[in-house]
Amino acid sequence: MTPVTRWPAEAIWEAVAPLLPGFTVEVLPQVDSTSSELMRRLRAGQIEPTLLVAEQQTAGRGRMGRGWQSQIGDSLTFSLSLPLAPADWSGLSLAVGVSVVESLHPELQLKWPNDVWLQGRKLGGILIETAGAAGAQRHAVIGIGINIATPAVDAAQALSTVPASLRELMPGIDAPAALLRLAEPLVRTVQAFEQQGFAPFQSRFARHDLLLGRPLTLSTGVAGIGRGVDARGALQVMTDDGLQAITSAEVSVRPVLG
Ligand code: BTN
Repeated sequence: MTPVTRWPAEAIWEAVAPLLPGFTVEVLPQVDSTSSELMRRLRAGQIEPTLLVAEQQTAGRGRMGRGWQSQIGDSLTFSLSLPLAPADWSGLSLAVGVSVVESLHPELQLKWPNDVWLQGRKLGGILIETAGAAGAQRHAVIGIGINIATPAVDAAQALSTVPASLRELMPGIDAPAALLRLAEPLVRTVQAFEQQGFAPFQSRFARHDLLLGRPLTLSTGVAGIGRGVDARGALQVMTDDGLQAITSAEVSVRPVLG
């Protein structure tokens, strides 16, 4: 099987290789999950920094054990693995979200911790995993899924809410063009995060913060108003009992939209 689409692998390699020695770009027509594949490779000792794109994922994974559905041709699914040793890992997924929205379109919003939303619907997601034994060099696998076009009617009808797609904002865009916009800034973001942590991204996150000033409910039952994120990326919620900082990515947040 060979890829059916033309991907800008060479242009991405030329932009990223000077930042990440040993970097490779690979496109697979099909894989279970780009993140699962890169995690398997890391566990097998293949540690070269790699950007892996799949035209189709057969077992895409989302956060909190959920799946990630994507239609061939209608979505961008890729993962980046690279060595990473920040002093503090808090806020990495938020910084990646900032990079994604800034690279794609200023109207995109971020729903803490790192969902990409457009006009009240989810457009993309980010899944970050790490590999590496204690004391050894650690590696991050950053998986990103972006809906490029709205799925065909049959597939869309199977979903309770039709997800948003990038073409609603950028009519001519396709997955290769979106990847070209995302790749180099993503690597620069992760390297800046490694050096400086989340603090420099705090105000940039605020510009896209879907939950800022909105009523919201956490999966723990806590309800309040979103008050932005702090310098380590914790979600601040003003509740009846005062300001609470939510750090656990296991908490799911429901904005009360309207
Ligand atoms: C989420 O919103 O729950 C995160 C979704 C992350 C999906 C991407 S698609 C590329 C990479 N491979 C996966 O299996 N998942 C991530």
